[in-house]
Amino acid sequence: MASFQLDSFLRVQQERVEALLNDRSERLRPAGTPPRLLEAMRYSLMAGGKRLRPVLCLAFADTVARASVSAPAAEDAACALEYVHTYSLIHDDLPAMDDDDLRRGRPTNHKVYGEAMAILAGDALLTEAFTLVASGTEPVRASLCAELAQAAGAAGMVGGQVLDIAEDRPAELDYLLRLHRLKTGALIRASCRMGVLAGGGDAQALARADIYGSAVGLAFQIADDVLDVTSSAEVMGKPVGADAEAGRFTFPAVLGLEASRRMAREKVDEAVEAVRLLEGEDGPLAALARFTVERSS
Ligand code: IPE
Ligand code: IPE
Ligand code: MG
Ligand code: MG
Ligand code: MG
Repeated sequence: MASFQLDSFLRVQQERVEALLNDRSERLRPAGTPPRLLEAMRYSLMAGGKRLRPVLCLAFADTVARASVSAPAAEDAACALEYVHTYSLIHDDLPAMDDDDLRRGRPTNHKVYGEAMAILAGDALLTEAFTLVASGTEPVRASLCAELAQAAGAAGMVGGQVLDIAEDRPAELDYLLRLHRLKTGALIRASCRMGVLAGGGDAQALARADIYGSAVGLAFQIADDVLDVTSSAEVMGKPVGADAEAGRFTFPAVLGLEASRRMAREKVDEAVEAVRLLEGEDGPLAALARFTVERSS
């Protein structure tokens, strides 16, 4: 039975990420950013959230460096991942996409700032993510930019969102796996890989992070689909039951709840196995993998 204290680890790491995000985003103020734009960006960015992607990035960086590294490249990468993730949520909620009113326990960005500003706040978060990763002297920053761009772009998150809204999407498992790997899996996989790169890990560590990130990324979106059926808006901070109502293409809709849960657990086992050689038994990475499917929100 795992005894790693995930609760306290997660709390400390989430606080670390909150402080980093606050610091990095405040730097945009003296840079001449229109105040209303910065307000809209920070409204969604600083609204909480689990911070899973930056926590994974920092956990991999710390694991391969065998110490808690406060390396600026790892911390900038962690913030950039959350910028890109937050932009994806703002755009995902727009009327042209999922048309949702609630996110992270608050009215969605476009409900408060209007659609035009929500689009622009998302655009600015995406762009500033690359300012963050590219600004600094460490040579690894170029690879970090490439990883982030690939994961966020046409063959990554954006491509996955397109598969999600395609009119002619078939109700087949293969299609669903591809869709989930792109729309959510790609950025989670990149979070793990970027942590290894920023922490100075070797090729073997990168390969393990890749297996772990792919498995956790898929398990995470399966769990998101399951929670949309089984949880409540109060706990999730976003609407539930919305997928079925909108006729969205999800794991429970195609496989059923039990088979979906089983596949998510199998993926977590695969991820835990992949990081055993990196962190030994019962470390933070294994606990974070389990959290992706055992979480309640
Ligand atoms: C929600 O992501 C969107 C998906 C990719 C499933 P999270 O569940 O990580 O959302 P926050 O960041 O905690 O709000
Ligand atoms: C969207 O998936 C994932 C993104 C790329 C933003 P969902 O549409 O299922 O995310 P939620 O349920 O609105 O958070
Ligand atoms: Mg969506
Ligand atoms: Mg959505
Ligand atoms: Mg969802």
